[in-house]
Amino acid sequence: MIQTERMPRNRTYLMCPPEHFTVEYAINPWMDTTVPVDTALALKQWEILRYTLLDLGHTVHVLEAQPGLPDLVYAANGAFSVDGAVYGARFKHPQRAAEAAVHERFYRSRAGWRFTSPAHVNEGEGDFAYLPDAYGGLVLSGYGFRTELAAHAEAQEVLGRPVLSLCLVDPAFYHLDTALAALDDRNVAYYPDAFSPASQRVLARLFPDAMIADRADAEAFGLNLVSDGRHVVLNAEAAAMAGKVRAAGYHPLPVELSELKRGGGSVKCAVAELRP
Ligand code: ARG
Repeated sequence: MIQTERMPRNRTYLMCPPEHFTVEYAINPWMDTTVPVDTALALKQWEILRYTLLDLGHTVHVLEAQPGLPDLVYAANGAFSVDGAVYGARFKHPQRAAEAAVHERFYRSRAGWRFTSPAHVNEGEGDFAYLPDAYGGLVLSGYGFRTELAAHAEAQEVLGRPVLSLCLVDPAFYHLDTALAALDDRNVAYYPDAFSPASQRVLARLFPDAMIADRADAEAFGLNLVSDGRHVVLNAEAAAMAGKVRAAGYHPLPVELSELKRGGGSVKCAVAELRP
């Protein structure tokens, strides 16, 4: 990765407080319904994450929490937007299906967004990442566990951006955002073994200077980060990943998110980036 001054860019995010957060079903290997969740602690940790983003000067919109939708806190899964075009989500599991309409209402009630309802299963920013300065504006997308391959083509038609399909192979890293992160507008960090051998070769060709994470980094949800191009907000448990981030010239900001990890998510899952 070429070491230049890491410049932040102002962002707009969407988050939803974990007021009704529990682990009452298990749809990924991290979820254990027998271990109780401390919802009050989850809320406290979530507020610190929100203030961390606000302190950096970013805008954070808040989606109202809904009883019966414990995973709505993982706001990244609700849609994927690029330049005002919004590709809506369609959840794989019935337990989360109703979340899509909550996000759709958010975009449709605001001026300036062009919302498209998807025909194919896709979990929004969980499986889509955008790199505005790489290859003229590239969308990286994951498939294998949640988002269907057909949704990648659909996203390309909705967004008018090249969408590159990457095959996820490890159930622990079931969404792209658990295995790969955009550090800024052109650089990525990823954990190679979360991808098929061919997808690893594709990533190595496109991103020869990428930051490489190891299994421990990924298991600490160190790739589930939110970066503004300079400040990298990541799970406090991912100390080694924070070191890699710092060595590459970025500024890591660790946050404690122990409770959200019980649902199989961390910083990035809780934060959707809105690209008007
Ligand atoms: N419990 C949620 C699920 O399994 C966690 C979603 C995490 N979100 C993410 N963007 N990776 O669907």
